Amino acid sequence: MKKSTSTFTQPLKSIAKLAKLATIASILAASFNVFAEPVEIKFSHVVAENTPKGQMALKFKELIEQRLPGEYVVNVFPNSQLFGDNNELAALLLNDVQFVAPSLSKFERYTKKLQIFDLPFLFEDMAAVDRFQQSESGQKLLNSMNRKGVVGLGYLHNGMKQFSANDPLTLPKDANGKKFRIMASDVIAAQFDAVGAIPVKKPFSEVFTLLQTRAIDGQENTWSNTYSMKFYEVQSHITESNHGVLDYMVVSSNTFWKGLPADKRAVFKTALDEAIALGNKIAAEKDNEDRQAIIDSKRSQLVTLTQADRQQWVNAMKPVWAKFEDQIGKDMIDAAVAANTK
Ligand code: SIN
Repeated sequence: MKKSTSTFTQPLKSIAKLAKLATIASILAASFNVFAEPVEIKFSHVVAENTPKGQMALKFKELIEQRLPGEYVVNVFPNSQLFGDNNELAALLLNDVQFVAPSLSKFERYTKKLQIFDLPFLFEDMAAVDRFQQSESGQKLLNSMNRKGVVGLGYLHNGMKQFSANDPLTLPKDANGKKFRIMASDVIAAQFDAVGAIPVKKPFSEVFTLLQTRAIDGQENTWSNTYSMKFYEVQSHITESNHGVLDYMVVSSNTFWKGLPADKRAVFKTALDEAIALGNKIAAEKDNEDRQAIIDSKRSQLVTLTQADRQQWVNAMKPVWAKFEDQIGKDMIDAAVAANTK
């Protein structure tokens, strides 16, 4: 009888002991952050991994997990897997994602100031874009969405945009009546209106199918995006126009960013700066490599503009600047133009 009681109570005592140990362990873990799960940080973007933005995000992950081991884990979601163009900024403000890097054309609902980057034929090359972004005016724009809860942490390059279509676009009249997919930007819409084309605002994730099914005739993008998304396989011609820039701003929400402990925030900022530097290096390399890969593929023919042809595009599209001058600010436009001169 005695024996059976002890057989019954023994496992209970062991369970009680285990529970006590587990409680002590969890108190210790909470106090010293010993066994606590690392905090998950999400970085969402809409492009492929083998792009400047894709590589930048992965470098950021590597650096954070190396420098703050066990404290943070960074999960990167490429290709609009988690959030796409239509919802990534709203998700950021809801803290459903902590970092995104939309193209500078996609912030229009949060600030009109960044529209400057969409003005056609504003920057002569990427060196001029970089000089402007690093200037006092360019750095001021990083704070242009603070009141909306979005904090700009740095610019990332992709490159200059080229037009593509299923016909050669040599002169502005060649674009007349054609439908072009554009990013959600009123400046880019005005740029296509200016040559009698029909701009259609659509998310990046839909572009390939729209082109493949001929629902639209053309689009504008960088060499890297055109290559990594295989747009060149469904567009017969690419015009080397270099008519505008497609760059990014890496952003977080004020709430998340300011909520980080100051010492951790400093580690995050340094890691981001280093990741951006790598992304910019890759952007410069990919611009040439992906351009050449497209030419070598022979799937799409390169249209080269003479100086006189290009001037016609400039003449047709540059009047767009005046339409947006009040929203952007003349001083900003002047500062960007000045960046063309070394
Ligand atoms: C991106 O590079 O993030 C996408 C650009 C686009 O929407 O065309």
